Amino acid sequence: MSKTSLAVSIGSLKLENPILVASGTFGYAKDAAGLNSELGPFPLARLGGILPKTITKLPRPGNLPPRTCETTAGLLNAIGLDNDGLEEFIAKKMPYLRSIGTKIIVSIAGRTAEEYAEMAAVLTDVEGVDALELNISCPNVAHGTDFGKNPAECERLVAGVRKATTLPFFTKLTPNVGDITVCAKAAEQGGTDAVSLINTVLGMAIDWKKCAPRLGNGMGGLSGPAIKPIALRMVYQTAQAVKCPIVGIGGIETIDDVMEFLVAGATAVEIGTANFYQPTCTQKILAALPDAVAYFGVNDVREVIGRMLK
Ligand SMILES: Cc1cc2nc3c(=O)[nH]c(=O)nc-3n(C[C@H](O)[C@H](O)[C@H](O)COP(=O)(O)O)c2cc1C
Repeated sequence: MSKTSLAVSIGSLKLENPILVASGTFGYAKDAAGLNSELGPFPLARLGGILPKTITKLPRPGNLPPRTCETTAGLLNAIGLDNDGLEEFIAKKMPYLRSIGTKIIVSIAGRTAEEYAEMAAVLTDVEGVDALELNISCPNVAHGTDFGKNPAECERLVAGVRKATTLPFFTKLTPNVGDITVCAKAAEQGGTDAVSLINTVLGMAIDWKKCAPRLGNGMGGLSGPAIKPIALRMVYQTAQAVKCPIVGIGGIETIDDVMEFLVAGATAVEIGTANFYQPTCTQKILAALPDAVAYFGVNDVREVIGRMLK
């Protein structure tokens, strides 16, 4: 069979392959440069795209420590969007990011709908920014999920960003709702190019001897293998509710995890927590992807997307 095509499109964003790294789990990519695995040097440029840590308009110090806590099957975090702000990001982080040679999808969070639009407008003119992800789903900051829980507000915010930028963008949804398809539809109605799901699942770890939470913030977001079935279920449900592409996120670590998300309806995936305990897992996934696609007797990954829905 001829060479397998791995390219996918999300709006006007063309990805060489559907394997992305999730915001907040890959820093600003520089730390991952120079890593090696048994497959050789880790080629950052081969990733379909990189989502740096979410940025806000102004710098944020983040939450009180401890900010992370391991649980039986996943990681709890309450970082609180610690970042140096939009200006510093553009000046200090973008030069390296744009030199990598893959798509850079900048994750943004605003305090108001207008601030999302303002940040989107600024980033539109920044060299090397290929797309945006609107983080309306951070459970670890006050009001972080407000827009992701209120469909009318979500639609208004997305429509505002749509007007403010020509960049393609994803809207990242929270799983901490009764029915995630309601906000997915609202984001689609507002004009998003894709919905990405899921952000972390609100949880808690307790030190019973101290009668106190283990995280400085009290509660935090659960990620990693524990949440994969929740994310898969939500991608599958959302794929039946919207027409726009879906970016699947949650507990992905292996090629089998990726294929599960693709057949359930995801056009691309983001790998998150696995980057912490297996920093080169995306390299293994990329190496295995052509053969996994060929399992179906096809040579284009797009023929795998949503296959279980057809
Ligand atoms: C330590 C940590 C920090 C995170 N920071 C962000 C962030 O800044 N912005 C964001 O949109 N998601 C953030 N996330 C959520 C991830 O991008 C991802 O949606 C979530 O962890 C589920 O995927 P996973 O199970 O593969 O980690 C963070 C997750 C972790 C574990």
